[in-house]
Amino acid sequence: MATDLPEPEPAARAHSERLTAHIRAAIESSGGRIAFSRYMDLALYAPGLGYYSGGATKLGSAGDFITAPEMTPLFAQALATQVAAILDSTRDREVVELGAGSGKLAADLLRALATHSALPSRYTILEVSPDLLARQRETLERRAPEHAARVRWIDALPEKIDGAVIANEVLDAIPCTLLVRQAGQWRERGVGWNGETAPETERDVEIKRFAWSDTPADSRDATLAALRFPPDGDYMSEINPAAEALVEDVGRRMTGGAALLIDYGFPRAEYYHPQRTRGTLMCHYRHRAHGDPFAWPGLTDITAHVDFTAMAEAGERAGLEVAGFTALAPFLIGCGVLDRLAATGTPESVPYIRAAADVQKLLAPSEMGELFKVLALARSEGIAWPGFDLVDRRHRL
Ligand SMILES: C[S@@+](CC[C@H](N)C(=O)[O-])C[C@H]1O[C@@H](n2cnc3c(N)ncnc32)[C@H](O)[C@@H]1O
Repeated sequence: MATDLPEPEPAARAHSERLTAHIRAAIESSGGRIAFSRYMDLALYAPGLGYYSGGATKLGSAGDFITAPEMTPLFAQALATQVAAILDSTRDREVVELGAGSGKLAADLLRALATHSALPSRYTILEVSPDLLARQRETLERRAPEHAARVRWIDALPEKIDGAVIANEVLDAIPCTLLVRQAGQWRERGVGWNGETAPETERDVEIKRFAWSDTPADSRDATLAALRFPPDGDYMSEINPAAEALVEDVGRRMTGGAALLIDYGFPRAEYYHPQRTRGTLMCHYRHRAHGDPFAWPGLTDITAHVDFTAMAEAGERAGLEVAGFTALAPFLIGCGVLDRLAATGTPESVPYIRAAADVQKLLAPSEMGELFKVLALARSEGIAWPGFDLVDRRHRL
């Protein structure tokens, strides 16, 4: 249990209490248990209360975690090279960004595409959190006012997409299903309410009230897990049918162009490695990574790594071609991130030294360079793929 987490402020604690009561009510009205995917959905997206829909700072240095576009505009500048190549293969020249966070990627990408003379006709953001949508609007007005009129927001996928689809750290935030194989039996992890035991400290209240509650897995999930998990032994991991459905849905709507899915994760053989017996579920609270999804609901991000083989298969089901798969470092280098870094100033200058430290985080194998992957799923043929020229690991999927 995550007992060493810093205490939230009273208002944040009260917010977490309201979400806890909301999830508890959902558990009680479902007969004492909800699937973990439902718990994660409520904890992240319950209207007005969930982590992504309840007004906390979340991303950035003052929040709980920092994503690549939050860290440095050089990420968007490099990505622009690949996005421009995709847009060149389309007639509509539209960018569709899923889950745009603070809006920094949108603002910096629009500015970078303008310098390539490759502005999209329209930049569409699909955002499920009204709170983040307001923040994105404000970021775009502030960082890229000259391009803000090109941006529109939608709350469901458009019927047709002929352009570049971008999802950075979105698939990991989609509620996953937790499955356990114990003594040969498949069970689905769920969440129950432990009752209001009298806690010794206030902090105990927060971490002890939800409890794991497992039931026999439904046969479709058990069949999927049996195909993916290692063949023997007790094992727990995730599958993410909702993320796969989203990728397939996006693919079916694409009439041209390509999608770039960027996230932390592995090809299947690594994801379900025999030694990874506890899965990949991870939580973030004030820049601390921990493993307890019941700690401070509404104040804690909950994620699972992405099984990129599953995402590639979902794209193929929609008729897309798996056009490239690589780690973040070779992708960004292939897209010219080092040239962009060189353009920030002389190597002794303060802007260069600051930018170099950020690029180091993006590229270092021990930071984001290796764990983060980029998967390209294409509808159009003949797209140039600078991001996959250096290293293409499609054979590992
Ligand atoms: C970890 S944040 C990443 C934000 C941003 N892309 C970045 O890199 O900074 C996850 C984002 O995915 C969004 N999201 C979650 N489920 C989604 C879905 N089904 N469709 C679109 N966006 C979704 C969240 O609201 C949030 O904006």
